Amino acid sequence: MLIEGSTLRLREFEPGDVEGVFGIFGDSRTTRAFGMPPFRRSEAVALVEEARAGAGEIPRTHYRLGVSEIATGRLIGSVKLIVAEQPEKGGMVRVGYRSAEMGLALRADQVNVGHSTEIGFLLGVLSFDWLGLHRVWAGFLPSNVAAQRAIEKAGMVREGVLRHYGYVDGVWHDIVQYSILEDDWKAMRGR
Ligand SMILES: CC(C)(COP(=O)(O)OP(=O)(O)OC[C@H]1O[C@@H](n2cnc3c(N)ncnc32)[C@H](O)[C@@H]1OP(=O)(O)O)[C@@H](O)C(=O)NCCC(=O)NCCS
Repeated sequence: MLIEGSTLRLREFEPGDVEGVFGIFGDSRTTRAFGMPPFRRSEAVALVEEARAGAGEIPRTHYRLGVSEIATGRLIGSVKLIVAEQPEKGGMVRVGYRSAEMGLALRADQVNVGHSTEIGFLLGVLSFDWLGLHRVWAGFLPSNVAAQRAIEKAGMVREGVLRHYGYVDGVWHDIVQYSILEDDWKAMRGR
């Protein structure tokens, strides 16, 4: 799995990425967006292992990919796309059919320089052009204003607030939910 934009690429994680992943998630400026303390090094090892296990799934449902600079090869971020299990055919409403949840985290020294627009585009290519999904959604803590602004710039639409949909260490959190549909993507691409 390799998708390239003008300056960034999405690629599979490799065993040598542990330090790079630790550089992203070992920083509280990044993990507080998820309501989490910074990773220990062992958690960076586990993330890389989990990502590589996901890459071997058939059919694949977990896409946890590295974001690296094309010019230098340096890892600057991590994305995830978790495809919903496909419900069985039948007369019932098929909730989640052809949908996925996405997430994105950049190294703290790489935020606010506009990377999310290019990464959003690359995730759109993966989701809609390659995987044929119909809907991609993402949820954020209401306090994460930067993520909401970034995701709107990338073409996602705010759907509303899911009350107490998140739970961290005994505390319930509202989650602001955004989505982009295949139709939005086609309109953005002029098709
Ligand atoms: C969320 C994240 C991916 C955004 O990526 P990014 O490349 O930094 O985003 P961009 O630079 O394209 O845009 C950020 C926007 O938020 C704005 N912004 C940043 N901090 C802000 C704040 N406190 N209040 C209001 N707006 C803010 C910036 O000005 C910019 O908007 P602009 O282009 O109109 O000026 C990145 O900040 C990140 O990795 N954060 C930590 C992890 C995270 O929050 N992940 C999302 C949860 S899945």
